Amino acid sequence: MRQKYSWKQRRRLTDPIEEHVAFSDTESKIAFAGHPLHAMMVAFPIALAFSVFGADGMYWLTGDEFWPRVALWAAGVAFGIGVIAGVTGTIELLMVPGIRIRSASWTHFILAVMLLSVLGLNWGYRLDDPVGAVLPWGFMISALGAGMTGITGWHGGKLVFDYQIGTKQETRSK
Ligand code: HEM
Repeated sequence: MRQKYSWKQRRRLTDPIEEHVAFSDTESKIAFAGHPLHAMMVAFPIALAFSVFGADGMYWLTGDEFWPRVALWAAGVAFGIGVIAGVTGTIELLMVPGIRIRSASWTHFILAVMLLSVLGLNWGYRLDDPVGAVLPWGFMISALGAGMTGITGWHGGKLVFDYQIGTKQETRSK
């Protein structure tokens, strides 16, 4: 049978993380004019990861060798800017107490590092033979990369819109 707690006992059951003095200290430190650099940069790997997938699909449909060249460049730039965005996000994660203390931030970090490995693989796999690499493995890696980008990007949005991570304290509703 479930144990019944009195109102006084229930009042003592608090979340130690929410109670922590650092919990509300979430303001971005790696920012330009108050706007987090990470949020500015992630748009590029997100768009380019989907572009690689699209270019592979176009090659499959048309057989035109223009598309594997597009995919090679898109994969390389997605990986390069993704790594730089990851570095800014990681500095933020380690430096800002209210970001560091939340488990959701670490979940985003783990998702993002897995994604960056897939983006790197997608680029490296194509370097020697961009055309031959597309079917079937390049296309499959692109599909995985696009799916993981969707999940990581959605989760990054959750950090900002649900937990107000990276936002200024004085503008936040209490
Ligand atoms: C590798 C380590 C990463 C860390 C530690 C990290 C950390 C963070 C943090 C702390 C935020 C909150 C905003 C801020 O303070 O800047 C954030 C937001 C976000 N992240 Fe990451 N991130 C990483 C990589 C990535 C990657 C690779 C992507 C996607 C390609 C991504 C997508 C996003 C998105 C879409 C947001 C929401 C931005 C907004 O709507 O303003 N992150 N991330």
